[in-house]
Amino acid sequence: MIDIHCHILSQVDDGSDSLDMSLEMIATAYDSGVRSMIATPHCYPGLYDNFADPYLQQAWDELYAAVHAAGIPMHLYQGMEILAFDELPVLLQEGGVWTLNGTPYFLIEFNFNEDPSYCKKILSACIAAGYRPIIAHPARYFFVQEDPSVVYEWYMMGCGIQLNKGTLLKRNGHRAYEIGRSLLRHHLVSCVASDAHETAMRTTDLDEVREYLINEYNEEYAYMLLEENPSRILEGKKLVGYTPRAYK
Ligand SMILES: [Fe+2]
Repeated sequence: MIDIHCHILSQVDDGSDSLDMSLEMIATAYDSGVRSMIATPHCYPGLYDNFADPYLQQAWDELYAAVHAAGIPMHLYQGMEILAFDELPVLLQEGGVWTLNGTPYFLIEFNFNEDPSYCKKILSACIAAGYRPIIAHPARYFFVQEDPSVVYEWYMMGCGIQLNKGTLLKRNGHRAYEIGRSLLRHHLVSCVASDAHETAMRTTDLDEVREYLINEYNEEYAYMLLEENPSRILEGKKLVGYTPRAYK
């Protein structure tokens, strides 16, 4: 499996708080069947000021060296989870943020009670600039819980949609769980990722959600969400999916 969303870079956001924890997170992922991970620290101006700069590169280099020294054969790639803000389209073009493995794909998140028209405005500007948004954990946003049809709009605009494993394992509340399942039924999900932050609750173990997807849906859907589309994201290729269904 390939995990395209996890906070394994240490001491740069609210994810891993030490190199030791990062190594444990990566070892756990490996044991659960993950072979590639994209580190996605928050880029959240004013709160987590992570940008494509030497400071973040140093954190990356330290992690990369430690994983190699520990002998964990995990493939690691650079990325970010970027909050939607006005300057983002320009920042993408200037190379000021890390896209997913340097491809046109980038992981974007919204404030939980964002105005959907603002989301659309930023997404459209990023797409017009030649980038492809992957929208992080839509089922957790309050405005999506109120009206999930906005996710259909995003999908039809060409955005990828990423669900969190915790949502499907009922760790983000009942409403998020119901919306997550509904998005899967409407074929509006491109991939599932851990969004791991630490080693106790929000972990890097993807096997538990793989089993869930196989039991609730089937092996083919689980493969598409955990391997096929994540590998297409890594390579900058077009995503695949079943025919999406609109909300009535
Ligand atoms: Fe995240």
